[in-house]
Amino acid sequence: MKEYAPACERNSQVILNVLQRILAHSRTVLEIGSGTGQHAVFFANGLPHLQWQPTNKESLESINAWRGEAEFENVLPAKSMDLLAGTDHQYLRLPEIDAIVCINTVHIMAWQGTEKLFELAASAISPGGVLYLYGPYRYADRPLEPSNENFDLWLKERDPLSGIRDFEAVNRLAGLAGFELQEDLAMPANNRSIWWSKR
Ligand SMILES: C[S@@+](CC[C@H](N)C(=O)[O-])C[C@H]1O[C@@H](n2cnc3c(N)ncnc32)[C@H](O)[C@@H]1O
Repeated sequence: MKEYAPACERNSQVILNVLQRILAHSRTVLEIGSGTGQHAVFFANGLPHLQWQPTNKESLESINAWRGEAEFENVLPAKSMDLLAGTDHQYLRLPEIDAIVCINTVHIMAWQGTEKLFELAASAISPGGVLYLYGPYRYADRPLEPSNENFDLWLKERDPLSGIRDFEAVNRLAGLAGFELQEDLAMPANNRSIWWSKR
């Protein structure tokens, strides 16, 4: 059964606007933490040249239900992916991965999940490929916005290992994994679109 996340309805178009620019030359995209599957279908419809591989830690049922709405049949069946359980991407059987897209997931997982994400990106993304993250971030040179401060407290009450990540720490991981920062864009509701390319 198709599930709906209200946040997806609000952010899909603004994220697609960025992805259409930065994934113009990509062919295969691995999405980590696909959630309901709404994003996978929305982005695949707006980027018909891509083959989109959704993955999720939890149930894949909703993603596969949404797949039927991919106008160009360019969404692959969802695969199970728990970054805290390992990063063996071979089973995904993609010929190669040109990009990884991970939306509103880095602050949900324990920090080790982000480390694993960059390990996976280092081994799976082809040179010149893209790693795109969307969500709220904390910056050393300014206080967290009040809405994100509240969100961070709420996250930590649910799971003390979760929480809004430091941009500088994430960017450091990216550098160590062989990625170069390309853009860090302000998005609605105090979110960021951050993307790196593989050297
Ligand atoms: C807030 S939801 C975001 C879903 C979707 N990207 C969106 O923006 O609507 C967080 C996602 O993180 C995923 N997730 C949580 N822990 C994970 C882990 N250890 N490895 C991979 N994904 C994880 C969940 O399955 C879920 O899809």
